[in-house]
Amino acid sequence: MTLSAREVDQLKHAPAVAGVLPAIHHRWSPRAFQDREVSPADLAKVFEAARWAPSSNNEQPWRYIVGLRNTVTHEKIAATLAGFNQAWAPKAPVLMLGVASGVSRNGKPNGYAFYDLGAATALLAVQATAMGLAAHQMGGFDHDAIRKALEIPGDYLLGSVIALGYLGEPALLSNDHLIESETTPRSRKPLSEIVLSAWDEPAELD
Ligand SMILES: Cc1cc2nc3c(=O)[nH]c(=O)nc-3n(C[C@H](O)[C@H](O)[C@H](O)COP(=O)(O)O)c2cc1C
Repeated sequence: MTLSAREVDQLKHAPAVAGVLPAIHHRWSPRAFQDREVSPADLAKVFEAARWAPSSNNEQPWRYIVGLRNTVTHEKIAATLAGFNQAWAPKAPVLMLGVASGVSRNGKPNGYAFYDLGAATALLAVQATAMGLAAHQMGGFDHDAIRKALEIPGDYLLGSVIALGYLGEPALLSNDHLIESETTPRSRKPLSEIVLSAWDEPAELD
């Protein structure tokens, strides 16, 4: 029997660690979304979080092109998705594309643009989680097609397409493979593998 959305949400939470923001442990990337719109006021809050991300030289190179369901922009983004994303993402009430200017204010290349876009999008996702929303990023889309469809200038780097909405029932997903990944717990590398005091030497953290 397929788990309910509520059960899945619990199963996807990272184990709580005292002192870590719950929204960080509760964030995950769902594929099933409710048939419920996100209000413009809530969308503004999600982008407010991205707006206050740090960036190299405070360039704020990020831009988000947002498509609400039943708009041309939503349709254009959905049409560029790879097949494995086509199977679920077009049902999300919001689809957006994150891009970053590869050129700094001084006209020189901005080598940190992509990095900064990632930081802004991470904050966006955590803010969404804190508000009871969920965001799912995708790299699986046709880059040339989306650049053309959304008329993105050539000096902007393409980041991810982001599906945003309210968590839906896994049973609504269109195939068993999607249901299985929706109902499998998340995993991460241990801190000892990613935090080092020297190369190949885990930092002692407690
Ligand atoms: C840059 C980027 C690209 C991704 N591309 C896809 C994608 O095309 N399709 C998809 O279903 N998930 C995609 N994901 C979601 C990841 O698979 C997911 O974040 C990862 O498995 C960790 O799971 P969690 O976000 O639930 O913790 C992408 C995530 C990121 C950050």
